[in-house]
Amino acid sequence: MHLNFNEMSLAQEIEKRRTFGIISHPDAGKTTLTEKLLLFGGAIQKAGAVKSSKIDMHARSDWMEIEKQRGISVATSVMAFEYEGTKINLLDTPGHQDFAEDTYRTLTAVDSVIMVVDCVKGVEIQTEKLMEVCRMRSTPVISFINKLDREGKDPYDLLDEIEGKLNIEVHPLSWPIGMGKSFQGVYSLYDKSLRLFKGGQQLHEEATKFSDINSPELEKIIGERYAQQLREDVEMLTELYGPLNVDDYLSGKVAPVFFGSAVNNFGVKELLDTFLKISPNPKPRKLDDELVEPTDKEFSGFVFKIHANMDPKHRNRIAFLRICSGKFERGSNYYHTRQDKKFRISQATAFMAQDKETIDEAYPGDIIGLYDTGNFKIGDTLTNGRKGVYRGIPAFSPEIFREVINKDAMKTKQLEKGLNQLMDEGVAQLFNFELGSRKAVGVVGQLQFEVIQYRLKHEYGASVEFAPMQLYKACWISSKDPKKLNEFINSKQRHIARDKDGKLVFMAESKAWLQMVQDNFPDIQFHFTSEF
Ligand code: G4P
Repeated sequence: MHLNFNEMSLAQEIEKRRTFGIISHPDAGKTTLTEKLLLFGGAIQKAGAVKSSKIDMHARSDWMEIEKQRGISVATSVMAFEYEGTKINLLDTPGHQDFAEDTYRTLTAVDSVIMVVDCVKGVEIQTEKLMEVCRMRSTPVISFINKLDREGKDPYDLLDEIEGKLNIEVHPLSWPIGMGKSFQGVYSLYDKSLRLFKGGQQLHEEATKFSDINSPELEKIIGERYAQQLREDVEMLTELYGPLNVDDYLSGKVAPVFFGSAVNNFGVKELLDTFLKISPNPKPRKLDDELVEPTDKEFSGFVFKIHANMDPKHRNRIAFLRICSGKFERGSNYYHTRQDKKFRISQATAFMAQDKETIDEAYPGDIIGLYDTGNFKIGDTLTNGRKGVYRGIPAFSPEIFREVINKDAMKTKQLEKGLNQLMDEGVAQLFNFELGSRKAVGVVGQLQFEVIQYRLKHEYGASVEFAPMQLYKACWISSKDPKKLNEFINSKQRHIARDKDGKLVFMAESKAWLQMVQDNFPDIQFHFTSEF
């Protein structure tokens, strides 16, 4: 097949792009690592410039403060930079667990993930949850075990913990020598070189190559004790793991592991260099049931995040769109598949590290910001005319439910509008019961109720309260047999609701009861995510 010039440059643009996210439990070092990566890319000049993803400790239970800090973060929700000829799009993921859904959705827009683990604390709960989302999409994961300058867990135990808790095979590509006060450095199993760490910082000389680790040079550098230990470790690791099979990483089966210390900028460059060598560039994605290649010359993309309140006086929002195929050109008309309408996109923003700038064109893997006055919802697809939606942005069953109580009947319309818009932004999920006019709002974290209440009041003038509801899970239901589904709905009418897209949901009151209902209705499938 011969490619014409335009097709060739599209393929080249795709080839040089890497779109990824960093995930971690709060405090493991995500912000610090982000910052070091940006420093390498020359995107920022000094440490301390990345405030975005970090929510201050003292603000963690104060959502107003969090919102303020999130406000600052728009520009840094996506940090794009160039490094050695590669265009890197780093997507920020909120660390606060009450906004976990935001993070889940952001993960649908990346092609791979770097997971930061604190060597003192090991694998923590938020990392476990985020890894589940990665596994759903077989997202390739590289793990960076951080804070080696502290006395942490034994490295072998850390590998076991990752395998055990995160259900993924590991493959160490570097190995620490000592730890905490006696941390000497890391040995790269990937390119057989040693990097030394002395007196709290990286020694800036180049890594020492060791084609033969048995060379007596090793003793001279790290002393007899550590040299002996390292040789034993390397022998064991080489026997255990062998060379990395990159395909196993790309299919999400194996996670390469690096050790280092982000705050000391130690081990970060190796991580970045290897990441560039092995991480995937934009891959084909499913639009309905059709696999769309990024090189397909017809433009397409989907909205995975909406950021509101850019300016509280005007209700303006930015819709974040991930480009999946073709070339985006500002000023073109694109087809909004849900609304069945063409839109002229005259304003689009690229996110270059900390600045936003208007862009004229963008390519698969890139994230662009579209100014929005309420046309977009999370999950919306834009194309050149092709119908359908990009799959893979499921809603997950929320964990806490409350009934919405309207406190001002005169503002019912505003309430409806406000609720719908907040749901479009993905702040929470709304379930409308089929019987009566009850509405349940479901969230991942308690703070989201405060966000909704405050924003409804200040942006829409509506007053609400939330009443407790005895609900355990929202289960999306389906059946191969429409008659059986109808029978089920009729017999459980009081517990049937619709989600924002009109999909049928069974609102289960308790775990035990759900189990009983599942046993009694074997022809009904109960799903914990909206895509099945
Ligand atoms: P997060 O985004 O994952 O929440 O974590 P963040 O990078 O903010 O790091 C959390 C804390 O861990 C910070 O300290 C940071 O300096 C520290 N840290 C990051 N990497 C390392 C490392 O390699 N070694 C050690 N010892 N500490 C590390 P803090 O006291 O909370 O904040 P700060 O005042 O130091 O910024």
